[in-house]
Amino acid sequence: MTNKKITLLLLASVFTIQALTQTHVNKRAEWFVNARYGMFIHWGIYRGAEGFWKGEKLRNNNDYAEWIQYRNRIPKDEYLTLLNRFDWNNIDPEEWVRLAWQSGMKYVVLTSKHHDGFALWDSKVNDYNIGTYTNHKRDIVKEVSDACHKYGLKFGVYYSHWVDWEHPYGWDHTKEIYKITQKQYDEYWQNKVLPQMRELLTNYGKIDMIWFDMWFNHSRTIVSKEELIQLKKLIRKLQPECLVNSRLGLSIEEDPDVDYRTMGDNQLGRKKFDFPWQSPATVAHSWGYNAYEDKWKSTTTLLHSLINNVSLNGNLLLNIGPRANGDVPYEISLRLTEIGKWLAVNGESIYGSGAFDLPPSMHDWGKITYKQDDNGTSKVFLHVFNWPLEKKLYVTGIKNAPKRVYLLADKQKAPLKYNFSETVTSIDLSVPQPDPYVSVIVMEYDKKPDTENDLVAKSIYNGYSLTPYNFISAQGDKTIVKSHDFGSIPVHLTVKNKSSYTWRIYVEKPDTLNVDVSYGFEGENGKGKITVEVAGLNETKEVENTGLFVIEPGQNSRLENFKAFRFGTINITKPGYYDIKVSVEPAKNEKIDLLWVWIGK
Ligand code: GLC
Repeated sequence: MTNKKITLLLLASVFTIQALTQTHVNKRAEWFVNARYGMFIHWGIYRGAEGFWKGEKLRNNNDYAEWIQYRNRIPKDEYLTLLNRFDWNNIDPEEWVRLAWQSGMKYVVLTSKHHDGFALWDSKVNDYNIGTYTNHKRDIVKEVSDACHKYGLKFGVYYSHWVDWEHPYGWDHTKEIYKITQKQYDEYWQNKVLPQMRELLTNYGKIDMIWFDMWFNHSRTIVSKEELIQLKKLIRKLQPECLVNSRLGLSIEEDPDVDYRTMGDNQLGRKKFDFPWQSPATVAHSWGYNAYEDKWKSTTTLLHSLINNVSLNGNLLLNIGPRANGDVPYEISLRLTEIGKWLAVNGESIYGSGAFDLPPSMHDWGKITYKQDDNGTSKVFLHVFNWPLEKKLYVTGIKNAPKRVYLLADKQKAPLKYNFSETVTSIDLSVPQPDPYVSVIVMEYDKKPDTENDLVAKSIYNGYSLTPYNFISAQGDKTIVKSHDFGSIPVHLTVKNKSSYTWRIYVEKPDTLNVDVSYGFEGENGKGKITVEVAGLNETKEVENTGLFVIEPGQNSRLENFKAFRFGTINITKPGYYDIKVSVEPAKNEKIDLLWVWIGK
């Protein structure tokens, strides 16, 4: 692509700052919250090994290829010979950045110094850096930072501050045995960490974030809080706009000046936060490329991860591990490009968007994000992970009628037909599914719509699934048993004493619905009973022994069986809210395990 073309495309894709939907965001982090999607680049000497050393596979099942020096106990001088495999004529970091830009990523984070302690810039602090070992003193930090500036992306560096296998007093885990003193560690800190940080923050123009990597709180490590504060102060002094993540070793709670929380590796969001946060993730498993990698996630999976995080106010930092010849593994570039194409069409639901007010896992068809655009229009984006077979999408819990509803992929914004009733919007989806991965529907409102959380949403399978997770009130036993035996025993409520549970649904049209209850009971028939009350139905049944079942042959496994029983059929004559009360009365020492109630077809 010519430079001119790039400039034109860049102009079309400049970052617009949206009105933020999340509240606890400091000024510095606003761009980050809007950006939502970035590229992580793990690249260093370990790329020459690709998970093997002298024919032996990496000595650890976690298969993090960038750990090979430590895991396979490789001496420093031998480790450096891996650089012989690098194809310096072919290595072009601008290509990596271009891929980020093409893929709709808004920032790039490069491993400037990983745990091996080797700097990817021509550091004057010590010789253990790329400049010393390349002919024309290559400086990968500079090359990536220049490329980021050219493509209009934010630029961040990963810097391993805690762990450093090069410096005699840097941390490596064997020092739990071969101890060093606090004073010695501080020598490493003062002589390597702080001066290198100063270099990075002085010589590479604007650095938008430093991505530290201490996955423990400082209290559990050799690093002192004072050292961390000193480091953070230096950053604030040299580049006051630069973001610092929580893997500095200080949580946001302990120090609100930390800009965002980094989750565990490949740990996606599960609940909504108001502060900025991010999941670092891989396309397969390892951060550094592994020759034997076989855990590739699909484009759909990765898109789900991104959308999931945005729906909870989070970011996704997706890693590429280019090889020693500079190439990005095909499996990675393919998926990133596909995500880029998706974002080119649907990016509005991601960039500058965030969590909506409804419970995150309320609907079974996918995830919701929300934004208020520059004209004040409120947009609720429905990400349909599972295009409904019955061609109807139900949105439960929004109390206002939308102004209009359309497919985000449709430039004409042709209206989709919908019905609105009190708190349920039923959208007619008898149109072709616009996207093979995730299709997005927009519901527009003049102002942020009102919501109600205490409802069980209508399923795309035409009914309401009442579970231990979505009752609105309970009296008595609330013990939830987690799923076990490989999920053969699903999450359920275990009831030992007389208890009752209430769920609320909204039925948007007259209908005839079945009421089924699934439970497991191992006692004698008739020892205990269950009553269901809903819309004129008041049915009590004695519990039956539901028996046992075998998960797999030849394993001598016998597990509790859950069985569904029809309690009746209800005739809904008018739209409205309906409460379902289920009372469980076990006999003494005869627990009843309540799995679900299904109101529907
Ligand atoms: C872990 C690993 C490291 C990787 C990082 C990415 O902390 O030690 O190899 O860089 O996670 O999140």
